[in-house]
Amino acid sequence: MKFIPYGHQWIDEKDIAEVVKVLKSDWITTGPKIAEFEDALSSYIGCKYAVAVNSGTSALDIAVQTLNLPAGSEVITTPFTFVATSNAILYNNLKPIFVDIEDDTRNINPEGIRKRITDKTKAISYVDYAGHPCDIEEIIEIAEEHDLYLIEDASHAIGAEYKSKKIGNFADVTVFSFHPVKHLTTGEGGAVVTNNEEFYEKLKMLRNHGIDKSALERFGPKAGWAYDLKFLGRNYRITDFQAALGISQLKKLDEFLRRRKEIVAMYNEVFGAIPEIETPIVKSYVKSAWHIYTILLNGMDRDDFFSKMRERNLGVNVHYIPIYRFSYYHEHFYNNPEDFPVTEEVFSRIVTLPLFSKMTDDEVLNVIEIVKEYKNKRR
Ligand SMILES: Cc1ncc(COP(=O)(O)O)c(C=O)c1O
Repeated sequence: MKFIPYGHQWIDEKDIAEVVKVLKSDWITTGPKIAEFEDALSSYIGCKYAVAVNSGTSALDIAVQTLNLPAGSEVITTPFTFVATSNAILYNNLKPIFVDIEDDTRNINPEGIRKRITDKTKAISYVDYAGHPCDIEEIIEIAEEHDLYLIEDASHAIGAEYKSKKIGNFADVTVFSFHPVKHLTTGEGGAVVTNNEEFYEKLKMLRNHGIDKSALERFGPKAGWAYDLKFLGRNYRITDFQAALGISQLKKLDEFLRRRKEIVAMYNEVFGAIPEIETPIVKSYVKSAWHIYTILLNGMDRDDFFSKMRERNLGVNVHYIPIYRFSYYHEHFYNNPEDFPVTEEVFSRIVTLPLFSKMTDDEVLNVIEIVKEYKNKRR
């Protein structure tokens, strides 16, 4: 059997044709496709503004930077995420303060947030783990009580909904990633969305060194040569051919999400009846975007399970190694793993199974069969 990865893009001939069209045009970067992609994104989400960049990590970096927090301020976040979430806090000379997760959704625990607030806390950066939105109303309430900014890392959650409203309409700044394992892809890519005009104007400059005029504004017979540098930004620009791919992919996003949900239902039906496997939950008031499908093993060794699955060509994975366990974080911001009992427990038992919209029913049934065989052999 061919290796089945845990995530994979779905690019079709239409996507390729759109990319080729742009490659043959005058503008392959800083051109008109960028705004077209941003408009398509903001109208899909139902928010006012979107700024597309070259990765989810870059999006996180400028999302944090745009808030202009004093150096040394504390930003509360989850340790159960990809390192980019907290690295973006560090890039901006701020301090990540980790809070334990909830055992059902594996999202940051709002009660835990309350306990870690100090005079230095200026923001909360929360992640909609696996595509399941956090308890956003509670997080907003905390932010309002303590005058904190909200950064939503929705890299897993494009198209997800909280109380019937799409993710991208809650935090001050919300970030998406378009890496190939995500719901829609631009190769590498990401975006920040916001309803705040001031942030929007700043974000556009920050992705382009901090320059106050776009390439399109500086082009053509009537344009002058002058521009100003308003902030210290970087080159985080996405190309026009990536934007064209993004526009084409976005048209299929609802279908991609539907297929992911269908695969999850196939998994849940079988795994839900196996006591050695705990399947993921979905709260009644959210719509998950199902970025990853994770199971918790009961009484089966995770590392043995992992290696046996890999031997059978299943691209299982572990999402995530808690961030405080990495050497860099351990050396610079020591956190005692005992302070994160839920994260530690989930981390020791969790496995990600393959889930992507292009997965065929046969591939899904294959995964199910191999997992069942493993479980039966142990009896
Ligand atoms: C939660 C989370 N945040 C940020 C990122 C970074 O996104 P990118 O890989 O597009 O830089 C990822 C990517 O895996 C992620 O899962």
